[in-house]
Amino acid sequence: MSKSPDIAGHYTRGDLFDRLQAALREDGVDPEQPSVATLAPYDQFHGRGLEVTEEIAGEIAETLTVTPEDHLLDIGSGIGGPARYMATRFGCRVTGIDLTEEFCAVARRLTALLGLEARVDFHQGNALAMPFADGGFAGAYSMNVSMNIADKAAFYGEIHRVLKPGGWLMLSEIALGPGAGPGGGPGGGPDYPTPWAATPASSFLVTPKQTEEGLRAAGFEGIRLRETREEALAFGARSREMVERGEKPPHRAVQLVHGAEAATMAANTARAFAEAAILPIEVHCRKPA
Ligand SMILES: C[S@@+](CC[C@H](N)C(=O)[O-])C[C@H]1O[C@@H](n2cnc3c(N)ncnc32)[C@H](O)[C@@H]1O
Repeated sequence: MSKSPDIAGHYTRGDLFDRLQAALREDGVDPEQPSVATLAPYDQFHGRGLEVTEEIAGEIAETLTVTPEDHLLDIGSGIGGPARYMATRFGCRVTGIDLTEEFCAVARRLTALLGLEARVDFHQGNALAMPFADGGFAGAYSMNVSMNIADKAAFYGEIHRVLKPGGWLMLSEIALGPGAGPGGGPGGGPDYPTPWAATPASSFLVTPKQTEEGLRAAGFEGIRLRETREEALAFGARSREMVERGEKPPHRAVQLVHGAEAATMAANTARAFAEAAILPIEVHCRKPA
């Protein structure tokens, strides 16, 4: 049973590029000349947006060497903000893969506007069957994607396959928290819709422990997992204060992608974070050398 059509449908509206251009104009940005910075409120489509991408990049910079010859993989690359950020920061090549065709099309157009198309490319496809050779990527990352993937073993296994020996994987995602109740079964977890799923039928949350076990079973080692609940709560509080002051919040991707439904999604997510029904996590691991 494939969940793919429902998931791509959840993210597709058909006029995303036009709405992004309108949002940029409203910000006083020339939509024909955006930058990594002016796109960041919209093209970093995960909790805390650019803040998390910078954290992940900071950890990469501290613990790993990324050279311009390296090729990184962005799994579930959305409209490409994280891929363009990593390529710009490290001077490396980045390939993104995403199920949602409209996201890939918008990602390519934005990448061309930034003149990064020689180093950043996007494939429409499924993370569970990637059209990439074994062992080609020096590193991979995936931000807020696994929540849409039921078969975690296949997901981790496929990433492991395409990494070089010694290649690294960074995950930033939402896990099931202790507030979800035992096992987090039906009735546990957040209320829906959320930014990643309209209903529980396309949401596949697991606990941090299950994530670690899954990665280990797939052959990853050196697994380090960090819960970032405090950061998420602080970011939410800061954003609410900005809105109360009449300013735009720093993260506007959910609003851009989901339009009128975004407010309900954000409220459901904020409540689930507050109740610890969900937990944001960042994970770092490696394929053995
Ligand atoms: C919340 S968005 C995150 C996008 C991007 N990682 C970012 O942070 O800006 C989740 C993305 O995962 C993609 N996705 C979900 N399931 C997928 C799968 N099986 N294969 C590839 N992409 C998938 C969706 O199409 C969507 O673009």
